[in-house]
Amino acid sequence: MKIFSELETLAGFSGASKPGVTRVVFGQSDMEAHTWFKLLCIGAGLEVREDAVGNTFATWKGSEPQLARVGTGSHIDAIPHSGKYDGTVGVLGGLEAIRALKATGFRPRRSIELLLFTSEEPTRFGIGCLGSRLLAGVLDTDAADRFEDTEGKPLAEIREQAGFSGTLDTVKLPPGYYHGFVELHIEQGPLLERDRVQLGIVTSIAAPSSFRLTIEGEGGHAGAVLMPQRRDAFLAAAEIALAVESAARATGAIDTVATCGVCEVFPGVINGIPSRVKLEFDIRDTDTQRRDAVVKALEAACNRMRAKRGATIQMHTLNSDAPATCDPTLIDVLKRACENEGCSYSLMVSRAYHDSLFLSRIAPVSMLFIPCNAGVSHRPDEYASPQDISNGVRVLADALAQLSQ
Ligand code: GLV
Ligand code: MN
Ligand code: MN
Repeated sequence: MKIFSELETLAGFSGASKPGVTRVVFGQSDMEAHTWFKLLCIGAGLEVREDAVGNTFATWKGSEPQLARVGTGSHIDAIPHSGKYDGTVGVLGGLEAIRALKATGFRPRRSIELLLFTSEEPTRFGIGCLGSRLLAGVLDTDAADRFEDTEGKPLAEIREQAGFSGTLDTVKLPPGYYHGFVELHIEQGPLLERDRVQLGIVTSIAAPSSFRLTIEGEGGHAGAVLMPQRRDAFLAAAEIALAVESAARATGAIDTVATCGVCEVFPGVINGIPSRVKLEFDIRDTDTQRRDAVVKALEAACNRMRAKRGATIQMHTLNSDAPATCDPTLIDVLKRACENEGCSYSLMVSRAYHDSLFLSRIAPVSMLFIPCNAGVSHRPDEYASPQDISNGVRVLADALAQLSQ
């Protein structure tokens, strides 16, 4: 299978030193990888088109191309200092599955389409699944064009410079565009490996939400301002972060998770009292009500810090999404594909989000998970074995063949 050398080549388009991978959307490495990927698709005899935000569609035309298509794909952007399998296995695995079907002489009735989503990761614009949200029509397109990257540059300008022009409302897919969409992905958790199961079939995707807090106190001299007089913005931030952790643990449910992954302290000097802090929280659960109870605890902690520490706090919701339920027919197709290929499987929940979460708003979706070493992901030592990748590709090919008939 060519996928193994292609995964290595793709990992080389990176702004980090090996084995880390950094590929920020519309950055130089991402654009080079994108061009390379399009050439691979053209080489495989697929027709390539791009939309106004850079979502890239590579189509194998079916004998009845007017029918709703069968889709597969994922993303190639990678968070800073991550690994080489997150997203990429679904993109290059989709291509490998299509090449394998072509090699057997298979002729699809429905067109089969490989989709590369733009900006699944929230690194640059603070919101994940940008491309798939626009495909599903769940974002206000004018507001999306005004999304600023970490340097304050709007999406409108960045995508134009990257060569993706046209209005964002053209990105939304028409109703019934996909007959079904299957995303291949590494599990990003430890269950398949622990249970010695070859593949996971995803039945639902957990509901993600994220928030940006700006906390203002009062700066001053770290030696001269006495403790009773202080309004230290970082200490208010620290108490809020701990309160969120407690609330997430207190649900008692293994599926509740909360992370404070961004903490920027201003002015950020050892001998200055922090006057301002930016925090970002990521809170998720398979159960929306339980997740929202943690969000309420975050709001309550902000109120307490306003009163206790005299902090001024602004809380901005970056996203608050519903969970996705995968399509029972697609789940059956994947079960059959596993049986046809002699692979064991278990049904599972995806605690990570994926572009399939948003495609589920407009199409039947399911996902196929392959094990990853020790469940490690979003780290340079992320690893999936060639055997597991090859199982995933064969089962995906079988599922695409079933769905396209
Ligand atoms: C996707 O990368 C996620 O954070 O779930
Ligand atoms: Mn990721
Ligand atoms: Mn991913």
